[in-house]
Amino acid sequence: MSVEETISLADPVLGEKEKKALCAVIDSGWLTMGERVAAFERAFAKLHRAPDAVAVNSCTAGLHLCLKALNIGPGDEVLVPSLTFVATVNAVLYTGATPIFVDIEDILTPHISLSDAQTKCTQKTKAIIVMHYGGYPVSLPAWRSFADAKGLKLVEDAAHAPAIDRVGSWGDAAAFSFFTNKNMCTAEGGMILARDSAVLCRIRQMRSHGMTSLTLDRYRGHAFSYDVTELGYNYRMDELRAAIGLAQLERLQEWNRYRRELSNLYRDMLRAQLPDVTVPFNPEQETAAHLMAVLLPEGSNRDAIMSHLRQNGIQSSIHYPPVHLFSYYRERFGKCDLKNAEMFFARELTLPLHPALSTTHIKRVVETLANALAQH
Ligand SMILES: Cc1ncc(COP(=O)(O)O)c(C=O)c1O
Repeated sequence: MSVEETISLADPVLGEKEKKALCAVIDSGWLTMGERVAAFERAFAKLHRAPDAVAVNSCTAGLHLCLKALNIGPGDEVLVPSLTFVATVNAVLYTGATPIFVDIEDILTPHISLSDAQTKCTQKTKAIIVMHYGGYPVSLPAWRSFADAKGLKLVEDAAHAPAIDRVGSWGDAAAFSFFTNKNMCTAEGGMILARDSAVLCRIRQMRSHGMTSLTLDRYRGHAFSYDVTELGYNYRMDELRAAIGLAQLERLQEWNRYRRELSNLYRDMLRAQLPDVTVPFNPEQETAAHLMAVLLPEGSNRDAIMSHLRQNGIQSSIHYPPVHLFSYYRERFGKCDLKNAEMFFARELTLPLHPALSTTHIKRVVETLANALAQH
């Protein structure tokens, strides 16, 4: 490994299998919503012990369809984490409902807080979106009981946590992401699971303009025409992406395991060399280890530390600027006080974590971080 080699934050693993799969789609002459999409849905459902799944063109589209199919709309309030990617909250706005920002539990457990959610629940609250930050699942049984006790729908933003036990099975619906930086990727893409087969059926129809039959079925002569029974969208997945997805899915669990190993290695090295740097979450908890989030010591100059890492060929990032602080949201919903999310954001730094990294890379990241902290 040369000193100059850049250690990127999140690289996809793509190889011969994906190339061959793409060529096979091109040779087949059928490019969208065909047998590969159906096979990808079946394989994803099986891995998550679900009876069925619906593939879409992004997790954002998936979250929108989950909320629509659960009848969330204008006049409704949806409890959302602010410490998430903006797509989680945008999906609520697409439906015409109002997002209500909820704080995180604390800086060591940056999940949406159940106690804060309880205080923000009103007559208008109809749903909650939980997000499995960094691949660590929220306490799903506790959220299910809360949702049931209040008569609310529970949606899981599972973008960070594919192939993790119970994720996707406790929510009324769940959406996963296959964006390029995720644990498995299709470039752009997503998948939806739902508890109730009628909800999933509605999602399947809304994914393609609300039409009652598929182009492939009409092509095969299984259907001559179609009806449109409600407003739908073009949120379809194509065969090229599904072919990549099928290849990636085969290695997802192996990659998740390796990510956990790397993340435990980070924990051990940080504990030994930088005891003032804190790693959130309980290391015993099962995780898809999507992000390597750490908390810098209070008062550190994060910008200078990130520049130092960059100058030494190491990418880093911040997950996340809380959504309630973005100007669009501040202008639309006013000021909102979420102390823990803001405290977490002020100290968070995301270090490189993906299956192409080795022990040597992790050592270099930790050593460079140690030098950066010593200087800044
Ligand atoms: C937590 C979370 N939710 C939703 C999304 C949106 O996923 P997509 O890019 O597939 O729409 C992302 C992607 O970065 C995410 O991290």
